[in-house]
Amino acid sequence: MIAIRTTREIAILREANRIVADVLDEMASHVAPGATTRDLDALGERLIRERGGIPSFLGYRGYPAATCISVDEVIIHGIPGPRKLRAGEIVGIDVGVLYKGYHGDAALTVPCGVVDKERLRLLQVTERALAAAIAMATPGNWLQDVSRAIQRTAEKAGFSVVRVFVGHGIGTSMHEDPQIPNFDTGDRGPRLKPGMILAIEPMINTGTYEVRLLDDHWTAVTADGKPSAHFEHSIVVGEKEAEILSLTPKRSWGVLGHAS
Ligand code: MF3
Ligand code: CO
Repeated sequence: MIAIRTTREIAILREANRIVADVLDEMASHVAPGATTRDLDALGERLIRERGGIPSFLGYRGYPAATCISVDEVIIHGIPGPRKLRAGEIVGIDVGVLYKGYHGDAALTVPCGVVDKERLRLLQVTERALAAAIAMATPGNWLQDVSRAIQRTAEKAGFSVVRVFVGHGIGTSMHEDPQIPNFDTGDRGPRLKPGMILAIEPMINTGTYEVRLLDDHWTAVTADGKPSAHFEHSIVVGEKEAEILSLTPKRSWGVLGHAS
């Protein structure tokens, strides 16, 4: 069952996701050579709590940190630790916040220093795939339309779509119905209706879409060790179009900045 949220609930989801977006902005601005992923996570956790939120990820199925920091070949669920960021790497940051009983969730990937052309193109294409997906999240469309937009954007650019992880509905729980594949499964899925809240999160690889899980049972890396990018927004399906909840007024590199 996919929840339809009331105006009051959507207002709280807007606040929760505004915290997420602010924290992402701040963390992204601290991505620099020499910083450890643990430093970034500590900053993120402090900022979440200062704003009256609770980190949704901390303790979720035993996850040991407030945020996920996924560097280069790490697709998602990178556990912050002593890894030092190096110039030329791309850094995925994923933040979830519980606020007044509702969850916000978003992610982005940014370059550390100057990165090569392939990585830069990967970031642009992945963000564009998310924008294309959000543009399809209109009432009356099928969920499959959203998934297809991601796959088409990624594969046209010569990249591959990770299969084993999906986006999700979100609200009073971090993961709610529906699951949102980033590729066409052949099933058209549910029809979208105003008031549905979706966390759409394409994970796009430069090489194979195959995934390997590290011994920590969290860190998901590309099977071929090539770079991967991840962008995520939480959105509400409106009467005519989707509204992105996880943006800030000052974010210029948000999905809207790259929308094609
Ligand atoms: N954005 C991710 C998700 O929706 C983050 C979850 S990390 C976890 O699944 F640790 F909480 F699992
Ligand atoms: Co998510």
